[in-house]
Amino acid sequence: MAIAETISSPLAARAVTASKIYGQDDNEVRALDGISVEFARSRFTAIMGPSGSGKSTLLHCLAGLDRVTAGQVFLGDIEISGCKEKQLTLIRRDRIGFVFQAYNLVPTLTALENMTLPMALAGRKPDKEWFDSVVDMLHMRDRLAHRPSELSGGQQQRVAVARALMSRPEVIFADEPTGNLDSRSSTEILTFMRGAVRSLDQTIVMVTHDPVAASFSDRVVFLADGKIVDEMSDPTSDGVLERLKGLGN
Ligand SMILES: Nc1ncnc2c1ncn2[C@@H]1O[C@H](COP(=O)(O)OP(=O)(O)OP(=O)(O)O)[C@@H](O)[C@H]1O
Ligand SMILES: [Mg+2]
Repeated sequence: MAIAETISSPLAARAVTASKIYGQDDNEVRALDGISVEFARSRFTAIMGPSGSGKSTLLHCLAGLDRVTAGQVFLGDIEISGCKEKQLTLIRRDRIGFVFQAYNLVPTLTALENMTLPMALAGRKPDKEWFDSVVDMLHMRDRLAHRPSELSGGQQQRVAVARALMSRPEVIFADEPTGNLDSRSSTEILTFMRGAVRSLDQTIVMVTHDPVAASFSDRVVFLADGKIVDEMSDPTSDGVLERLKGLGN
């Protein structure tokens, strides 16, 4: 695969006039409505917008978890909207980290096994130092042997965040990664994520409802009805709150 080609692109991901339509006829929902948006490499971007505005759909399409109905989606220079399923599986496994809104942990595996599953599937082992720093940052050291049913919602969310961070993928897509956490855990994770962007050139695209979480990002993109309606660089939580009020959120 053309990794060098991908690295050469200044854009980590982008959508070009992408639409996603669910259902048919009277039941048709236009979750993405001809959206064009770019995500720069080594940057932390937040996506905000009212419930149902298409945030999760956009993230799923960018990560190759779902297919657009029309338009194109790129990861680096690779058009993933044109990839076959087999190729997509490899791209998702090797190059993308995803934090699901609903965690999607494997119930029969322990916290540690869940965190390292994508790498295990790829026949890789996490770097020991990185593994330790992620686990300690998330305060999960004494919960590594527990299964998801034995963890609180916040702990399950932290396992999901750890799983996405573990392989240091080209891009991390995170759907409300702090939605179920108290403000202290949330601040710790956001600070860690921002640190990974600043010092390790990690690229992160995060959906959030929380203006404070968005203020950790470099740029906020606002969605409404499946379209980009606004954006803001170097956001502050007050600034984000003002814009959201304008969107009727
Ligand atoms: N599988 C599906 N089948 C039909 N409609 C869907 C499906 N998935 C999402 N939708 C619809 O598409 C629209 C966008 O949904 P999406 O999950 O992207 O919103 P969201 O912005 O992430 O909302 P939230 O903030 O509540 O998570 C909604 O109207 C939703 O009901
Ligand atoms: Mg969502």
